[in-house]
Amino acid sequence: MLPEFRNEPFSQFSHPDVRAQMIAAIEAVKREQDNKYPLYIDGEAITTEKLIESINPSRKEEIVGRVYEGTAEHAQRAIAGAARAFTWWSKKSFAERARYLFKAAAIMRRRKFELSATMVLEAGKTWAEADADTAEAIDFLEFYAREAIRLGEPQPLTRIREEDNELYYIPLGVGAIITPWNFPLAILTGMTTSAIVAGNTVVLKPAMQTPVIAAKFMEVMKEAGVPAGVIQFVPGAGETVGEALVDHPQTRFISFTGSRRIGCRIYERAAKVQPGQIWLKRVIAEMGGKDAIVVDEHADLDDAARQIVASAFHFAGQKCSACSRAILHESIYDEMVERLLAITKDLRVGEAENADSQVGPVIDEGAFQKVMSYIEIGQGEGTLLCGGKPASEHGYFIEPTIFGDVQPTARIAQEEIFGPVLALIKAGSFEEAIDIANGTDYGLTGSVFSRDRDHLEYARVNFQVGNLYFNRKSTGALVGVHPFGGFNMSGTDSKAGGRDYLLQFTQAKAVSERL
Ligand code: SER
Repeated sequence: MLPEFRNEPFSQFSHPDVRAQMIAAIEAVKREQDNKYPLYIDGEAITTEKLIESINPSRKEEIVGRVYEGTAEHAQRAIAGAARAFTWWSKKSFAERARYLFKAAAIMRRRKFELSATMVLEAGKTWAEADADTAEAIDFLEFYAREAIRLGEPQPLTRIREEDNELYYIPLGVGAIITPWNFPLAILTGMTTSAIVAGNTVVLKPAMQTPVIAAKFMEVMKEAGVPAGVIQFVPGAGETVGEALVDHPQTRFISFTGSRRIGCRIYERAAKVQPGQIWLKRVIAEMGGKDAIVVDEHADLDDAARQIVASAFHFAGQKCSACSRAILHESIYDEMVERLLAITKDLRVGEAENADSQVGPVIDEGAFQKVMSYIEIGQGEGTLLCGGKPASEHGYFIEPTIFGDVQPTARIAQEEIFGPVLALIKAGSFEEAIDIANGTDYGLTGSVFSRDRDHLEYARVNFQVGNLYFNRKSTGALVGVHPFGGFNMSGTDSKAGGRDYLLQFTQAKAVSERL
């Protein structure tokens, strides 16, 4: 019998054997820098004229690997092939499709250190962050496989004597899967395999910054035996491959995780019914956040400060769930500033491959420039309390940066920076703090630190975010435990890793037979 879902445990790097395995994996992945990874269309490995160079953000000069870049024509061919594969893949049972995911989870467990090491080098993730990413990918496979089996079971309907009534969840068609660089294995795996286990076929376009880990995901899926045409792999630019996928009349749905700007653009383009198109495209979009942690006058301030620093600066603040605003009751503001600065100044910023680094680089030159320009804006909007400068020239490092006395309407308190920048905002009351927290276009995650039951209950009802946490950090949602997704401009609240997630990739068919 299938064991109950359990989250994949994190690796214990304090253990010398585990540490040694990770060091060996990093060395091995470094030796792969001359590898070139192909596109996959209908199971065929395809090379093209152009290569995407994957760069180690900790050391700008270092190449992690190269992946062939697809074009709009490849995207179109891939969609046509996926449409052919849909005719038979969609007819398989949920239980049969689930087996590919269980197999892929087992392969990822075997290749765990290699996959994590690839993200250390390609995404600049620290060991712990990379390990959590691989663990989450395994969780998604195990969780969605079980969810698919549940969807395939007879669905509960009200029975009437004169008829036999059944409801079946059936797949939608061909999906475009457009994935982000910040959880380049976990989110990619979740988005791709949820769609296929539900019976759809997909074209996967990974982020340009992290194509090597995406290519390794394809190796895992091939090894798991996923048939040709079910997952088509077309790395390439948003403007070429991405748009061709979104605009194609045979695309039935688009599953996207990334920036608000691109998410809104996809939503708009997908709304246009193309010649020959016989459906309305469904869009699942997970976008940004401007997440706040509220601390009241009754909170455990030491713990609150530790969790704010972890939420704001781990993975250099590049999570949609990252805390970019700390909203502090005025009576504890000064004490909190002191604690936050002490902990932040102790953070070890450094190359992701060093076991001791706690904060790595931002992903690329574009991100570096964007974050630095927000730091400049911040100088005019608040008091620079720490950081504010590049941390090393070898990579895209930025010091963990805190601005004090920021107004709730300031740009650095409203716009998503996606870097290690935290704005501190003072509030006169708990109600005011929640109003400030709610006062952006986003609504993804939020935390409250308080020991006052009335405050927690007030926040439970009034703090408008998809993932609300009490007395813990705002990052690190676990599959099955914290279904993840946000409100408003954070996206369509898809609740990844939750029981409702797979329904988005299905339609329901009710069949009634008169007895
Ligand atoms: N799920 C991640 C987190 O909770 C963000 O994508 O941090």
